[in-house]
This record gives sequence, structure tokens and C-alpha cells, in this order.
Amino acid sequence: MKLWGGRFDEGPSETFERFSGSLHFDRRLLHADIRGSQAFARALEGVGILTAAERGQLEAAFDEIAADAAHPGFFDAATDEDVHTLVIRKLKEKVGALSEKIHTGRSRNEQVSLDVRLWLRGEIDRALELLGGLMQALLDCARRDPNAVVPGFTHLRRAQPVLWAHYLLAYFEMFARDVERLQQARARVNVLPLGSGALAGSGFPFDREAIARDLGFDAVTANSMDVSGDRDFALDFLYAASTTMLHLSRFAEDWILYSSEEFGWLELGDGVTSGSSLMPQKKNPDSLELIRGKCGRVFGDLSSLFMTVKGLPMTYNRDLQEDKEPLFDAADQLNGSLEMAREVIATAKLNPARPAAAAEESWVVATDLAEALARNGTPFHQAHKLAGKLVLESLRTGRKPADWTAEELVKFAPEFTPAMAALMWPAEGMKSREIRGGTGPQAVARALEEAQARLSKLS
Ligand code: ARG
Repeated sequence: MKLWGGRFDEGPSETFERFSGSLHFDRRLLHADIRGSQAFARALEGVGILTAAERGQLEAAFDEIAADAAHPGFFDAATDEDVHTLVIRKLKEKVGALSEKIHTGRSRNEQVSLDVRLWLRGEIDRALELLGGLMQALLDCARRDPNAVVPGFTHLRRAQPVLWAHYLLAYFEMFARDVERLQQARARVNVLPLGSGALAGSGFPFDREAIARDLGFDAVTANSMDVSGDRDFALDFLYAASTTMLHLSRFAEDWILYSSEEFGWLELGDGVTSGSSLMPQKKNPDSLELIRGKCGRVFGDLSSLFMTVKGLPMTYNRDLQEDKEPLFDAADQLNGSLEMAREVIATAKLNPARPAAAAEESWVVATDLAEALARNGTPFHQAHKLAGKLVLESLRTGRKPADWTAEELVKFAPEFTPAMAALMWPAEGMKSREIRGGTGPQAVARALEEAQARLSKLS
């Protein structure tokens, strides 16, 4: 069946049908298509095209199609051009001639926008739920080792000591921004395009606000030409998804490193790691590597849609059919990665002794020393130089910070005080960083509580 054909002598060639058909991927929109069509049937009753009885008959038939779709083989042998055509064919099989009224004053151009919006709204809600679970897992992980100290890095070189919880809260903030971005994308998605017709506006006086309420949309679109060619709402989602994947990927990279033999900070759960077919000892972080890998794929989805849309003349062009595969893929990869990351975090165990040792054997405390000197009146550049000399001397003589006694420290330079020897322990200097947003233990405890309160408000 075709939804067009009157002006053609011949039907489409087999090659063209195979080339242009989208059912093998847009079948995913079936339930959104049915939901939208049921609301449209109610709108058609509102403008007198359908009687209440006809509308009821159509709604029931749509329900049946939705139920039929659960059966295996529903899509077998279907050669329809797209999911919209398939649904109408199934409708015709059920209600005969009455089905011919369902497309009154409606175009597939707006229908496809409607279906994608309805489907995408559900995917965003799922992503938001998964993000909430992931953020909770981060907070739980922080609470399991509230006092653990790790070296924080810049340039992947040991820089300053921080609390493990502070490190985890950094990712909490990134994901909190991702929640905001997804909510903003959702607001752009949740606008009703129906009533736009093919490009010029429908020729029937539908109550668009009523349809919007019916389908749970917050607003109606303002320009029919815009609707036909607009995929900004999908791009907004793809950007939000890309940024979330970016954060997941950086997190994955961290944890791949931290769980390696070289670091030894983390033990990943057996359930999220794989062995090697050749090397019996291996425990590989495949779940995290795949998250990192899928991130690139989602960036590709975003650029793919940008490329598709960039040269299109107003309004609808069939190129736009190419929007769906990247969009579907991005939603799948995003939600799959969020679910996976949560499980990795929930099943990982920190071995706090290893990062603590890494902090203690290095000179991550050098900044604390320099700042203590500055607090005591030594100009900071001087203090920096003194602490640097102390590091150099220690490296030459093979001393760790804690090897220095108070007497030796004061002997090294009179600017040092005996009390400053305590700063040779990484956890000590941290206490001077109680500034909001810093790694001071009280600041972090407060930040953890605030994060939990913010998260509870989200759900
Ligand atoms: N399958 C098409 C798409 O996904 C539906 C719209 C077809 N419209 C058209 N004028 N050919 O974009």
C-alpha cells in the first residue's frame, strides 16, 4: 500500500523501494505513531470529519494494532515504505474504508516530527532516571570511604592531595549539568508540531492547544514551515547526550587507569570485567572501555545529523529521513552507558591504602608547605622557592616528606616552623582547604549532604 500514487502511471522500481524504505528502522516509532494518530482521530472528531462512533472505532483499531505488534512476525513480509504507511495499512485491514479519513489535513512531514518527539521524550525521561541512579551510586561510593585520600592529578602527574569523595563529587557536578541539559532539550522536544500540514499549515481548524494537552506537550509550534524542516530538538538532545557521554568517557578513562595494576586503587567487580581467551590472569575493564568507545560513536551521531541538515533548502526534504538512525543510536548508547556505569560504580571497591601511599611517597604536600610559609609571612614566591628546594633536596637524598623531622625542617630553612612538619602528611594540609568547593574534610562532608539533597529534589 502507498499513501500516494494517483498522479503516477507506474509504481516505484524495486531498487528505489529498497533504497528509500525506512521501515527497518522507523518501526521503532510504531507506538508513538499510534498514540499520535489516536490523538489526531480525536482532533478529527473535533472538526467534524469523524463522528464519535467512527473515532471510537479507529481508536480501538489502533489499540489492536499496538497489541498485534507485540506478536512475533508482525513486521515480517511488510514492504511498506515506512512505519506510518504500515500503520495505515493495518488500520485498513481492520476498519476498511473508514481508515481513509485518518490522514485528513495531516502530512507525514509533521507526523514524523510528532512521532520522533513523542519517542524522544520517553528516551530522555529514561536517561534522566538513569542519570539519577548513577549520581546516587557516586554518592554511595563516596560514603563508603569518606576519609580516603588520593593524589589529585594535573598533566597526569601527582599534584595535590584530595579526598576520594571530593574527586567523586566532581563527576556528580558534571552529571548534574547533564541533567539540566537533558531537561532543556526535553523542553524543546515537548512542543506539538501537529497542525502544520506538509508545510503551509493544516487546512482544517484543529484545536492545537487541545491536541497538545491530550499528548502531554507543553506548547505548540508557531510556524508550519519551520516544523517541516526543523530537527533542532533532535540536535539539542544529541548535544546533551554527547556531553553526558563525554563525562562518562572521561570517568571510564580514570577508572581504567585506577583499576590497573600500576595504580591498584580500585578493584572492579567480576561482573563488569572480562577475561582473556589466551592469558589466564587477565581481568579487563571492558565495560569501561566500551563506554569510552561508545562516546565517540555518539559524537558521530551528532555530527551526522548536523551534516544531514546543513544544506537543506526550506522545508522538508527526504534527506531528513536520515535523522532517525543516529538519533536512535545515540539514545541507545547513552542509556546503555548510563546503566553500565552505575553498575561499575556500585560494584567497585576502593583499596584506600594504595592511593594514600601514592600521596605519601610523592610531594603532593609541597603546595601545603609553601602556603603555610606564606601564611606565616614569607612572600609566596619565596615560599614556593623554599618548598621547591626542599623537594629537590629530598629527591636527591631519597627522602619522602614524612622522613623529615621538625628539627631537620627548621634546620633546612629558618622560615619553616616545627609545626609545619605535620604538613608532611597529605591529610593534614587538606584541612586548610575548607573553602566552599574545596577538598577540606568539612567542606566535602557538607558538599556530600548538599549533593544528596539536590539529587532527592530531582526525583
Ligand atoms: N519516512 C519519512 C521520514 O522519515 C516520512 C516523511 C515522508 N514525507 C515525504 N514527503 N516523503 O522522513
